[in-house]
Amino acid sequence: MSRTFRTAVVRTPGGPDSIEIIDVPIVEPGPGQVRVEIAGAAVNPVDLAVAAGLFHRRGLVNQPHHTGLGWDFAGTVTAVGPGVEVPVGRRVAGLIDGFDRDFGTYAEQLVVSADAIAPVPDGLDLTTAAVVPLNGLAAAQLVDLLGDGRGRRLLVTGAAGALGGNVVALARERGWQVTGLARTQDEEFVRGLGADFTTEAAPGWDAVADAAALQEQGIALVRDGGLFVGVQPGAEPAEVRGITVRVLVARPDGARLAWILADTASGRLPARVHAIVPLDQVASAHRAVAKGGVRGRYVLQP
Ligand SMILES: NC(=O)c1ccc[n+]([C@@H]2O[C@H](COP(=O)([O-])OP(=O)(O)OC[C@H]3O[C@@H](n4cnc5c(N)ncnc54)[C@H](OP(=O)(O)O)[C@@H]3O)[C@@H](O)[C@H]2O)c1
Repeated sequence: MSRTFRTAVVRTPGGPDSIEIIDVPIVEPGPGQVRVEIAGAAVNPVDLAVAAGLFHRRGLVNQPHHTGLGWDFAGTVTAVGPGVEVPVGRRVAGLIDGFDRDFGTYAEQLVVSADAIAPVPDGLDLTTAAVVPLNGLAAAQLVDLLGDGRGRRLLVTGAAGALGGNVVALARERGWQVTGLARTQDEEFVRGLGADFTTEAAPGWDAVADAAALQEQGIALVRDGGLFVGVQPGAEPAEVRGITVRVLVARPDGARLAWILADTASGRLPARVHAIVPLDQVASAHRAVAKGGVRGRYVLQP
C-alpha cells in the first residue's frame, strides 16, 4: 500500500484555480478514531468560501502550510484505532467541521472520530450518502433552533437547496406550516416535499429559516416579534422589531446522522446528486457551483 494519499488543498486561497492536489502521509487512527477510504465527498458552498479565502480573511484559519477542503464524505472503514468497535469494511458516512484544519474530505483517505460517522444503510449508494451528512445534520440542527411550530407559519428560503429541502421536510414534522421560497423551476420539487411554494414572499412570517442566506432581505420577511434562523455564523443580521435571531453552526453527530441516513434511504428526506466528478476536476466543479442554478451536489470521487 502506498504510504501517501492524494488530497485537495489550498495554500494561498484565491478561488478554484488555487486548489491543488497534493500527496500527504497516511495517518494511523488513534484512540476513538477510524480511517476511511473515501468513495465520495460533496462540494458544498462552504468549500467555495474556504477556497476563496473568506475564512482566512476573517482570521479563522491559521494553517502554516495548506488548508484542507471538504466537510462531508461517504466511504469504507479501512482501519480502526484503540477502543473502536466499528468493523473494518463497514460502509459509513460522516461530517468533519471547523475551518482551521490541514485535512478535509476532498481526499482519498480520512482519519476521523468514530463519533462523527454512521453506517450507510443497505439501499443507499455511497455517492448519494456522501451528500447527506452536512446538510442533513445542519437541517436537523436548524429545526432544533426553530423549535416546535404548533401550526405557526414558516418560510424556508432556498427551499430547493441541499439545506433548505431538508429543513422543509423536517420542519413540517415539527408542526410548522411550511412555505418554500425557490425559483420558478423548483415548484414541483418543493411541493413534492409537502410545502406550499412561492417565488416571491411578502413579509409577515412567524419564522424564516434563511437557507438562501438572504440575510437582511430574509429578516425583513419576519413579522414583529418573530424568529429568524440564519446560516452565516458571525454575519447574522442585527435583531430588529423584537425579532429573535439565531444562527446555525452545523456539528458532527454520528448517532443522529444514522437516523438521517435511514430517512434518506426511505425517501423521507431528499438527497440529490447532480454529477460525479473525479477529484482531479475539483476546480471545474467549484467553477460550475459558483455560477448558481445547480440542483443537487457535485460529488468528488478520488
Ligand atoms: N452555518 C452552517 O452550519 C451551515 C450549514 C450548511 C449550509 N450552510 C449555508 O446554507 C446556505 C445554503 O446551503 P445549500 O448547501 O443548501 O446551498 P444550495 O444547495 O446552493 O441552495 C441554495 C438555494 O437557494 C436558492 N436561492 C438563492 N437565492 C434565492 C432567492 N433570492 N430566491 C429563491 N431561491 C434562492 C438557490 O437557487 P439558485 O442556485 O438558482 O441561485 C439554491 O437553490 C449556504 O450559504 C451554506 O453555506 C450553513
